[in-house]
Amino acid sequence: MIANKTINWGIIGLGNIANHFAKDLALVPNANLRAVASRTKQKAKEFAKVHHAEKAYGSYKKLFKDDSIDIIYIATPHDSHASLSIAAMKAGKAVLCEKPLAVNTKQVKKMIKTAKKKQVFMMEAFWSKFNPSVKQSIDLAKNGRIGAVNYVNVDFCFHKEAPAESRMFNLDLAGGALLDVGVYPVFLAYSIFGKPNKILATARFHETGADIQTAAILKYKKGIANVFCGFASESDTIAKIYGTKGRIYIDSRWHEAQSYRIVDGSGSNQKQEIKVNPTRGKGFTYEIEECMKCLNDGQLESDLWSHKNSLELITIIDEIRAQCGLKYPFE
Ligand SMILES: NC(=O)c1ccc[n+]([C@@H]2O[C@H](COP(=O)([O-])OP(=O)(O)OC[C@H]3O[C@@H](n4cnc5c(N)ncnc54)[C@H](OP(=O)(O)O)[C@@H]3O)[C@@H](O)[C@H]2O)c1
Repeated sequence: MIANKTINWGIIGLGNIANHFAKDLALVPNANLRAVASRTKQKAKEFAKVHHAEKAYGSYKKLFKDDSIDIIYIATPHDSHASLSIAAMKAGKAVLCEKPLAVNTKQVKKMIKTAKKKQVFMMEAFWSKFNPSVKQSIDLAKNGRIGAVNYVNVDFCFHKEAPAESRMFNLDLAGGALLDVGVYPVFLAYSIFGKPNKILATARFHETGADIQTAAILKYKKGIANVFCGFASESDTIAKIYGTKGRIYIDSRWHEAQSYRIVDGSGSNQKQEIKVNPTRGKGFTYEIEECMKCLNDGQLESDLWSHKNSLELITIIDEIRAQCGLKYPFE
């Protein structure tokens, strides 16, 4: 897809993921990094220099007020996604906000209401949805390539040590494994089976109260998904989708996969097909293109990852959280 007019992007929250995103933005035709904003002017200037942004602001508000910006990518910690997205939309800007779109259903509903009221585009930056290997695996699974799919086993873990006040463990920033990485396994189960009929969940916690290992069983009419996330151990981070005639493995790390495998049959009658599918850049290019396509077409939400999808996903996360007894101080 090549968007037919230049789209001027702004980025706020110039940390780890903003850097990766800016590199991929440079790979997309007609995407222009117009301005970046940090809470610190010097940081914004340095980021702008590295990524060739035309303007650098020392406040997010100043970027919201910049009339030359079409869409703002929000890459701040979870607790601020809703308030910053709403402020950007109230200033008339389209928004691509990092996952999770917000920390709970109530916040997501408020964001959707604002997007509709202000008639601006908004999308959760669920980049895995647009990853070619993930997308093809989901499509194949849903189209019967491995028979009737009735089991998904998917995790996202790594061992993380960081200060208690870091965004990973700080409850004030809605830290913890579930919102940081757990949303991915839940997303895969949701993309294949939809909304679960029943959820059983439990978690282990850091001394700050943030979850460091969270497990959930999601039950559907036609199957079960076993989802797990954590900051306590490494894992293979391969997504496994099982059907009556075979299996699909989305290779590690599956949420940013470069390949997947289809295994037909079982026992001594197995046949494996490997599909190598390298991403363009790190893989943010596809969600960027989707936003630009929507802006060019005057769409207020993506058909591929809609407001309803974000809302249903956070509703599942809310229920997992409730069962684990996990609440953020500001709720
Ligand atoms: N798509 C992915 O693969 C992926 C991967 C990692 C993270 N994420 C998501 O991206 C978001 C940011 O994650 P990250 O890893 O980039 O985090 P990070 O490196 O800590 O960067 C976050 C940035 O947010 C800004 N910020 C605003 N308020 C803050 C506060 N109270 N404390 C700390 N920083 C604050 C800071 O930018 P300024 O100082 O410039 O204002 C900071 O550099 C999260 O929502 C996370 O879930 C997505």
